[in-house]
Amino acid sequence: MTAVAFITGASSGIGRAAALEFARQGIHVAGIARRSQRLSELEAEINQLPAPHGEFLGVVADVTDPSSLADAVAQTVERFGRLDILVANAGLGHRGVMVDAEWHDLHTVLQTNIEGVLHSIRAAVPAMRQNGEGHIIIVSSVSYNLTSPYTSIYAASKAFVSSLANSIRLELAPEHIAVTDILVGRTETEFNERRLGEGKRAGQGVPTMPAGQVAQAIVKAAQHRPRRVILRLVDRLIIWGNILVPGLIGQLAKRQYR
Ligand SMILES: NC(=O)c1ccc[n+]([C@@H]2O[C@H](COP(=O)([O-])OP(=O)(O)OC[C@H]3O[C@@H](n4cnc5c(N)ncnc54)[C@H](OP(=O)(O)O)[C@@H]3O)[C@@H](O)[C@H]2O)c1
Repeated sequence: MTAVAFITGASSGIGRAAALEFARQGIHVAGIARRSQRLSELEAEINQLPAPHGEFLGVVADVTDPSSLADAVAQTVERFGRLDILVANAGLGHRGVMVDAEWHDLHTVLQTNIEGVLHSIRAAVPAMRQNGEGHIIIVSSVSYNLTSPYTSIYAASKAFVSSLANSIRLELAPEHIAVTDILVGRTETEFNERRLGEGKRAGQGVPTMPAGQVAQAIVKAAQHRPRRVILRLVDRLIIWGNILVPGLIGQLAKRQYR
């Protein structure tokens, strides 16, 4: 029986790389996003992988719409017969002064990064219950506990999902559904170009990693089901720095993000 991963935000960046990595490992993938052309291109790339590889089903869906996600889960189960792993990855950044920002932009970030994760989990878990087990992987950020001037809405949205991960892990454990929180650091993706609010300049100073590195960590997490994943030493230092010297980290972040 082949495992099935359901990945939101599979049309670019980390989600796309994770879809390729799961398929390389022989796992079937349902890739969710709004850009259908990108999903078709990904399907073609997966079909070119050396055999044996997992199959790919692209589903056009919007994570802010619960009925669209329920339909995507139904299509996944119809095609592959099951859903084992949810990678709740779709997300969006924002830069700017929270009080002065366009409400529409702030609301879009909250709907995507918070409600999108809630809808994804609520849509996928009933399918996992059919198997008597499952695994939710939440793609959060090192920003989850970061003092984050000028990127406050994004950081707060990641604080929400990381907090959620800790609590629902205990709610779902009796049903053998594991929850992993991945605290991702700066990664080379389309994240900065697509970010809402002011400017597209990436923060300086912290090195980026390729999306494939995060994808490998996601696939490894699917094998071992850890509670939390932090990929690099620099990401660990950012998280611990914010616990030990939040004032200093806040000043450094302010310089990065303004
Ligand atoms: N890049 C980084 O430095 C970094 C660091 C820490 C954490 N992360 C997190 O990693 C995750 C993936 O981001 P990325 O860096 O890979 O950025 P990305 O290349 O911009 O990918 C974002 C993905 O989310 C999808 N998406 C956005 N809104 C959606 C919606 N309403 N419905 C369905 N899909 C939606 C996009 O697809 P469509 O537009 O086609 O729908 C796209 O596939 C995000 O949660 C982000 O917060 C990124």
